[in-house]
Amino acid sequence: METRITALLNIEYPIIQGGMAWVADYHLAAAVSAAGGLGLIGAASAPASWVREQIRRVKELTDKPFGVNIMLLSPYAEEVAAVVAEEGVSVVTTGAGNPEKYMEQWKAAGIRVIPVVASVALAKRMERSGADAVVAEGCESGGHIGETTTMSLVPQVVDAVNIPVIAAGGIGDGRGIAAALMLGAEAVQMGTRFIVAKESNVHENYKHRVLAAKDIDTQVTGRSVGHPIRSLRNQMTRKYLKLEAEGASFEELELMTLGGLRKAVVEGDVMGGSVMSGQIAGLVTREQTCAEMIREMMDQVNMLFAKAQERIK
Ligand SMILES: Cc1cc2nc3c(=O)[nH]c(=O)nc-3n(C[C@H](O)[C@H](O)[C@H](O)COP(=O)(O)O)c2cc1C
Repeated sequence: METRITALLNIEYPIIQGGMAWVADYHLAAAVSAAGGLGLIGAASAPASWVREQIRRVKELTDKPFGVNIMLLSPYAEEVAAVVAEEGVSVVTTGAGNPEKYMEQWKAAGIRVIPVVASVALAKRMERSGADAVVAEGCESGGHIGETTTMSLVPQVVDAVNIPVIAAGGIGDGRGIAAALMLGAEAVQMGTRFIVAKESNVHENYKHRVLAAKDIDTQVTGRSVGHPIRSLRNQMTRKYLKLEAEGASFEELELMTLGGLRKAVVEGDVMGGSVMSGQIAGLVTREQTCAEMIREMMDQVNMLFAKAQERIK
């Protein structure tokens, strides 16, 4: 399948694996890229030396294109920005901020820059500052979220910019991909489904929570302090929401979640940790390899497009 995104990124299928903090390491990124999608390493708040090592490991496993997601609020953002340029990474996606100050450096290194946006205004601003594409991420997503749903956000961003748009949030199978393409997106970014990939190194407890989740099992914490995060309901989210309702300060709430994702992903503490996951978890019921997932989803997309006229008369 060819779109402006598959051409831009030189990938076979319009599927990008989100650069998830703690989850998206070199194993997962390499497996997705080797299977014809685009794998991303999640740099999150990791030091630049860790990111460099991860990049080199991906290169040992595959010669296909891959990228790095840079969290711009990271204390190491500046060093990581330099590392991706030095290591010849082909794609950078950015979250939590505005990547304008790195744009020139990355463009000079031939990097495709794809900011994640949750509004039309930010999408337009990113296009003006030279972004090659944007990820329009709806609030069904796992992790840090905006206000607008994927269904509403994607077509509005598509209309507002000329660069290609990648849809994210709530996409878990071929139906989601076909729907996103219909909304005008030219690829999708998926997080939650890849958490349970065989090549994903997250703790078994975390995988089991995602695999067992139902449609209504996610909760959003931090709305009152302007820091909304979607994760699976547990002791931590219940306590957090109670404190939030009582008017706790940002600092108090932050303290509760500090290191929470690491606790869940690495230690398997799915009661007290932060089990970030999207609303689509209810649809994710099988652990498969990345290649199996991508093949199955693309078969489904092709079947849906071929059968659409039969189904709708
Ligand atoms: C555990 C987890 C961690 C995430 N961490 C990041 C991150 O560090 N940077 C980022 O840009 N997006 C992050 N995301 C968002 C994903 O990259 C992706 O856009 C999102 O999961 C898509 O929605 P879905 O979960 O419904 O597939 C994270 C998502 C999850 C589930």
